[in-house]
Amino acid sequence: MASLWKVGGITVGVLVVVGVVVGSITWAVLASRGPSAPELRELDWWENTVIYQIYPRSFKDSDGDGVGDLKGITSEIEHFVESGVGAIWMSPIFPSPMVDFGYDISDFYDIHHEYGTMADFEELVERAHQNGIRVLLDYVPNHASTESEYFIKSEAREPGYENYFVWADPVLPDGNNQSIRQVPSNWLSQFGGTVWEWSEIRQQYYLHQFAIEQADFNFREPAVRQEMLKIMRFWFEKGVDGFRLDALPHLFEANPDDHGGVYPDEPLSGNMWLNPDQIGYTTQLYIRDLIELYDVVYEWRDFADSWVKQNGADTKILLAEAYANISMTMLYYGDERSRVGAHFPFNFDFITSLSAGSNARDFAYVIRRWMTYMPSGNVANWVFGNHDNNRMPSRFRTDMVDGLNALNMLLPGVAITYQGEEIGMRDGYVSWEDTVDVQALNQGNASNYLQYSRDPARTPYHWDSSTSAGFSTNPKTWLPVAEDYTTINLRAQKLVDRSHYKVYQLLTRLRSTATLSHGSYHVEALNQNVLVLVRHLVTYDTYSLVFNVGTEADTVDLAKISLLQEPLSVYTSSIHSRRVNGDTVPLGEVTLQPGEALVLRSPSA
Ligand code: GLC
Ligand code: MG
Ligand code: CA
Repeated sequence: MASLWKVGGITVGVLVVVGVVVGSITWAVLASRGPSAPELRELDWWENTVIYQIYPRSFKDSDGDGVGDLKGITSEIEHFVESGVGAIWMSPIFPSPMVDFGYDISDFYDIHHEYGTMADFEELVERAHQNGIRVLLDYVPNHASTESEYFIKSEAREPGYENYFVWADPVLPDGNNQSIRQVPSNWLSQFGGTVWEWSEIRQQYYLHQFAIEQADFNFREPAVRQEMLKIMRFWFEKGVDGFRLDALPHLFEANPDDHGGVYPDEPLSGNMWLNPDQIGYTTQLYIRDLIELYDVVYEWRDFADSWVKQNGADTKILLAEAYANISMTMLYYGDERSRVGAHFPFNFDFITSLSAGSNARDFAYVIRRWMTYMPSGNVANWVFGNHDNNRMPSRFRTDMVDGLNALNMLLPGVAITYQGEEIGMRDGYVSWEDTVDVQALNQGNASNYLQYSRDPARTPYHWDSSTSAGFSTNPKTWLPVAEDYTTINLRAQKLVDRSHYKVYQLLTRLRSTATLSHGSYHVEALNQNVLVLVRHLVTYDTYSLVFNVGTEADTVDLAKISLLQEPLSVYTSSIHSRRVNGDTVPLGEVTLQPGEALVLRSPSA
């Protein structure tokens, strides 16, 4: 009898002779000839790619001023090609007073002078594209620098700009007595203190969810919505392949019209251990995850798709940055009335839900949670670090670098790498005196600033063991270079047989196999310590990751893993493993040291 099977969205036609139940999937195998190869759906350019996040200030300095720049990035295009990544995303490169290092944009249509010129940008895009590397920019819609034309005009009530920002009258408890002026509500900024800042010029408060110098746009103002599309179009025309969309949960705040004409106070959260000035001391019911924001995201997607259509261009992707609960996160993909949103919201679960203390069951659970909640037909993604969080080996353990990179590369969907993860870079030490991150400066002091500081994850990239790690010819860099650069650097890792970088290269290369791009996935905890991920596609080799995330050696029986069969060989392994590439591993008991990871190949089951 002829039958049709669906394998990860792929229909397989086979003649059934024997039906074998493997895990939850039923396979049909032909006793004599075996199953035929599945027809593989052609993927769009981004669906299985690796996106590499660049923090431009810290990637490569071409002119010796101690600050990374665009020419520096262009000079290292080869690094992206050799690393096997398909796209780069640069944190903001636009003119900025640098209060929040580029996330306070003063001109959305130009390049920041320390980073270079528009011509440098055009050259970067051209060289990247010639080398098959896509270029994504950071789009910061929630706010603009108070030095932007938008803000200056709005503060001066220039026609057309009056309502560009969220302006509010003071509360005057004593009638019209201006000397006892109060803020409109108790809302707190992400970087500490009230969201309201008084403008002497306009005699009103403006709202800022981040730094005082980052004024929130008013997304209920049609002119703002139009301007956002204009910015997007401008960069599409320059050839960018998409955007990472910054800080989306903060796009809207409660509308006083819905609250009797006032800005409603947030109730206290009950987190009494926090300082009353700190975000989290109150709830964020009125300043976060407001449902209106999703319409704006869907509007951007419509705009991007229609631009692509009109211009016969390749897909422009939109990636949503949102630290939100799982339901609010998934709405960025699209809503029930079938409007489409971002190509994906970043999956921050490895940052927010897992850490050094997590066991294998925690890992399996968190991975499955994303796959369970993700609306069907969408593409998953995995983030292990970024410029806002401590680096991956510092949050987990340094012996887990290869296993975590392997998870990133073997899980289905898009893999995201923050610069330095490919060589296992750790947090750099930045003293209080050297601290420049506004989040730490606003909320911290000499003894507790590391709790808030994002500087340790932003120290310069380690190219080699020369001055300033080869990042700059200048011994003085905008943030100090981490001390471990003499041992942890790209050049050193290229020169030895086994290194995080060599493992990373093998892992990204593996992604072009049909098993990884189209196969099913199966994740399970064999016990508290050992996590297993199997990628499988009928007629192709099976790849699996066996990873001891625990702190003690553990022995597991590989024969218990469905879909594995002999001969099993090591495709790549964590650098301290005694099993090396090409070794044969028995389909039986294996002992794994803490952090040890094996990527195994076995013939199609
Ligand atoms: C995002 C950025 C972060 C920035 C904030 C405000 O969370 O990743 O670096 O400070 O938005 O723009
Ligand atoms: Mg420079
Ligand atoms: Ca806002």
